Amino acid sequence: MDREKPLLGTVQETLLIPLYARAVETRKEHALLRDPRAEEIVASIDYDFGRFDGLPSLTGALLRTLLFDRWVAEFLSAHPQATVVEIGTGLNTRYERVDNGRARWFELDLPDVIALRRRFFTDTPQRTMIASSVTDAAWAAEVASGAGGPYLFLAEAVLPYLDEADVRQVVDLLADRFPGALLALDTAGPGFFDTQEEHDALSRVEARMHWFCPDLPAQLADWRPGADMMASHTLTSLPAALLAQLPLPYRQMVAALAAQKLPQAEGYRLNLIRLP
Ligand SMILES: C[S@@+](CC[C@H](N)C(=O)[O-])C[C@H]1O[C@@H](n2cnc3c(N)ncnc32)[C@H](O)[C@@H]1O
Repeated sequence: MDREKPLLGTVQETLLIPLYARAVETRKEHALLRDPRAEEIVASIDYDFGRFDGLPSLTGALLRTLLFDRWVAEFLSAHPQATVVEIGTGLNTRYERVDNGRARWFELDLPDVIALRRRFFTDTPQRTMIASSVTDAAWAAEVASGAGGPYLFLAEAVLPYLDEADVRQVVDLLADRFPGALLALDTAGPGFFDTQEEHDALSRVEARMHWFCPDLPAQLADWRPGADMMASHTLTSLPAALLAQLPLPYRQMVAALAAQKLPQAEGYRLNLIRLP
């Protein structure tokens, strides 16, 4: 396949960071995960990925992905024919990693991302790409008419790039259309948000975060009273069962990071909520 320059907007370019993290990891002897599709995709895209080489936050992105994967696997084990919706899917390969052959998947992103994604993935009766902003309510009607619940929505490294008013609109849309659904999302606290200019990966692209959230339970109590926090972790307080599965060098890395108690790390949370 000819290497093609990706024609992506500013925020869309950020999808190349976790994609590259998964591709690079795949070549390691003791890997957090293996993603041969990510390697193929990286090889066929004309982009200076070298700017991300060796950045510590690539490991953070992988740990986040593993936790989100775990939440999907647990959800599908309890509800094998449920619906999973990837909001801001980028070039993620979660379906390849955790699909159970019976669930219904929707993968949503902005139109230029879906155009790129269609070069590597195809729709099937179980798997549908949607080209739309998450803030455009029409996509929710497509999901609701195409599949029944229960629903798990994943917004991995997506909502912090939106304005707060748009995040609230998304939470309202999901809660109105899919009451009782689960939503996995990451939140940046002020320590993370205020240092984004120095962030190792973000400082190498133009996109910036626009929403930070120091206290998600309080924020939800204000926006949608009755939402339940099912889980909330930092990269240094991952579930014990997930931590136990990591290769030893990664367990040591996480322990060393925990000991430093950096505000950037401690203020970045991975959350699973049940909408009211
Ligand atoms: C850092 S990437 C994460 C991609 C993917 N979730 C992953 O973990 O590999 C952020 C993604 O959010 C998408 N995004 C940003 N704003 C969006 C919006 N308003 N509607 C839908 N997707 C959006 C971007 O296009 C990009 O694919």
